[in-house]
Amino acid sequence: MDLGLKDRVALVCASSQGLGKAIAKSLAQEGASVAICSRNQKCLEETRQTLEAETNAKIISVVADLSLKQDIEKLLETVEANLGSIEILVNNTGNPPAGRLAQLSESDWDRAYQLVLMSAIRLTKGVIPSMIEGGWGRVINIATSAVEQPRGDLLISTTFRAGLAAFSRAIAAELAEHNVLIHTVCPGVIGTGAMLNLAENMAAAGEITVQAAKDRLTFGVPMGRMGEPEEIAALVTCLASDRLNYMTGQTITIDGGKLTVPLKSAYADASRRINFEGKL
Ligand SMILES: NC(=O)c1ccc[n+]([C@@H]2O[C@H](COP(=O)([O-])OP(=O)(O)OC[C@H]3O[C@@H](n4cnc5c(N)ncnc54)[C@H](OP(=O)(O)O)[C@@H]3O)[C@@H](O)[C@H]2O)c1
Repeated sequence: MDLGLKDRVALVCASSQGLGKAIAKSLAQEGASVAICSRNQKCLEETRQTLEAETNAKIISVVADLSLKQDIEKLLETVEANLGSIEILVNNTGNPPAGRLAQLSESDWDRAYQLVLMSAIRLTKGVIPSMIEGGWGRVINIATSAVEQPRGDLLISTTFRAGLAAFSRAIAAELAEHNVLIHTVCPGVIGTGAMLNLAENMAAAGEITVQAAKDRLTFGVPMGRMGEPEEIAALVTCLASDRLNYMTGQTITIDGGKLTVPLKSAYADASRRINFEGKL
């Protein structure tokens, strides 16, 4: 099936690694020109070269800290100057700090607000005028399954990403008539480098095997495994395509079926509950 993405211009944020990198690759494989960004220039440039070699698409990289307004302004200007108007925006970020209410400081909340929520609002506001002018646009936010199943141990992520989903739903109607569509994708446990590091840290802290740590992370997931970054990328690419034209404002969970499990049975064994540091 032709997804209609050839020669579209995409900006995928926080994309030197993990979900962002997989999404950038998937869009590039469909023929889009893709801008990637992150803070570490060396890692970002390596990723750019890898993606370009693997996909033959035009890939540019822009160093940017998404928590900074001036970096976002520069990012948008650079992408537009080098690739043209952005038609597909993927709002992804780095991880906000984990923790429960008592563990989180005012500055944790302030910084994460800029990174997770304001970055997406600024970027979305920045790209919408040209999307409307062009009569075509896609904005896809990467959030978390905690939007639908709140997690007290990932309180900042849960709170601001629920806000991001609400923001998207709230603006979807006024954008729909311009063929500018917006969705929020909510991943469960996905085996990116960050998640695999977490499993290793849990194993070391809990004196268990890495596999046992992965089993704890995927406890209650009916499919019995972590998702692959490419599985998130496939969903985002479909949503970005010219094939899913009759849906907007959706919040879509992709979590191996975990949300279908009644909470009571998922957490029946309280001893299996973990916090983000991997302690029981
Ligand atoms: N993996 C999962 O299971 C999962 C599940 C639900 C939600 N999520 C969310 O999805 C997002 C991506 O997760 P991931 O697992 O792909 O993470 P990851 O593998 O750690 O990759 C994060 C990417 O974000 C970049 N980044 C971090 N802070 C940034 C900043 N301030 N400005 C610009 N770029 C920044 C990193 O590069 P630099 O460090 O060089 O900037 C890197 O490219 C995270 O926000 C995470 O909370 C992940």
